[in-house]
Amino acid sequence: MFENETQEPVDFTIQQLGPRKIASPYKAYQYVSDDQRTLYHTLTGPSSESLAHDPAAASYGFELAGPREKIYFDPSKIRCGIVTCGGLCPGLNNVIRAIVLQLYHHYGVRNIYGFQYGFEGLVPRYGHEALILDHERVKHIHQRGGSILASSRGPQSPEEMVDALERLNIQVLFCIGGDGTLRGALKLCSQIQTRNLKIGVIGVPKTIDNDIPYTSRTFGFETAYAIAAAAIRGAHVEATGARNGIGLLKLMGRHAGFIAANAVLASRDANFVLVPEVPFELGGENGFLPHLYRRLEDRKHAVVVVAEGAGQDLIQSEEGGGATDASGNIRLKDIGVFLRDKISEYLKAMGMEFTLKYIEPSYLIRSAPPQANDALFAGILGQMAAHAAMAGKTAMFVGYWNNQFTYVPIAAAVSRTKRLDPRGNFWESVIECTGQPRMMVNSPELLKSDRGSR
Ligand code: F6P
Repeated sequence: MFENETQEPVDFTIQQLGPRKIASPYKAYQYVSDDQRTLYHTLTGPSSESLAHDPAAASYGFELAGPREKIYFDPSKIRCGIVTCGGLCPGLNNVIRAIVLQLYHHYGVRNIYGFQYGFEGLVPRYGHEALILDHERVKHIHQRGGSILASSRGPQSPEEMVDALERLNIQVLFCIGGDGTLRGALKLCSQIQTRNLKIGVIGVPKTIDNDIPYTSRTFGFETAYAIAAAAIRGAHVEATGARNGIGLLKLMGRHAGFIAANAVLASRDANFVLVPEVPFELGGENGFLPHLYRRLEDRKHAVVVVAEGAGQDLIQSEEGGGATDASGNIRLKDIGVFLRDKISEYLKAMGMEFTLKYIEPSYLIRSAPPQANDALFAGILGQMAAHAAMAGKTAMFVGYWNNQFTYVPIAAAVSRTKRLDPRGNFWESVIECTGQPRMMVNSPELLKSDRGSR
């Protein structure tokens, strides 16, 4: 047991469907055993997260991913299903392909089905046919963005989905999706348990937002921020192409600003980055607009990057809100258009002539096929998911921690959220890179944490 920052106990033990008795047909140079782990905390020294202060954590961490010497399922009998849920993400097809080829070539599994349109594919009333996935069907799919299975948002009844798994005699379901999908997968697991069935549920966390806890990285994230970084460079070209030019760029990132922050650090061309984790004000001496004005006076151009979830409090005070999408996510107000209008109003009122180019790469950052490092990563995640499935593991996803592929209980990940730490070293680097003040607010209490306005 381990405690997360809300002091709730977090258990990293991976559930197993039953004893493993079959010698694996997978010929490994070295098999991995369940007690090989990578530590959760790796820092030493006077830090609250250090091993020195938390000796229990020294012996505790994530199970290492990889092939087990004995497996649970008989490869000649097992039937597997794959589903992709939530928003699209670069690398989905790479994960599907890697799972299928690993199962097909290395374990000899012959019955693999792709359920279409997310969890809907498991509910007969939608009428989505299951696709047969074999090496022929998947051989070229990694060259394409999107998902050959397509996707959908929103939960479906776990009872109906488990009915379908039973009817089709599926023993393992691979769920490739984000936090909503993992929550759905956990509900599936408890329905499976209630019926005392031996069906494994293996997650592969997918999100360009990189906001899944207990994995340092999710596939598609790197491609998304690389494309976003190219867009920032474009905004910079536009901004420097006119006197008092402003390039304003809105990027995805509903609750977490990782895409914006990483793209800014990669491009090094932005002067302001606004993320959901760091509140800001528009006006007042230390608000964003006066800072932008001073930057323009000083340098004659500015690039502003805003994550879609930033500054929602500013807009809601004017427009209200609260509607949700099929996944239960609050529909965000358009911070990009809002800022575009507020910047224009303010600079006009200040009598400054300016040119503002508003850029929204939107879905372009996630519809592309993965770049090399993401393709590599997505492929290994798929391979590790297949190993976990054959070993009879369940209610878990494949993570990445301390440069190791790991197995993580889904229950642990849905117990908390992952956000940028405004007091952490990473955000510090972002602030150093843009030169923006740490906090663009006026209240003395909030400003107390501002150690380095420039
Ligand atoms: O969940 C990932 C994400 O990229 C968010 O950053 C973004 O708000 C959302 O997807 C948009 O996706 P959709 O329009 O498909 O709901």
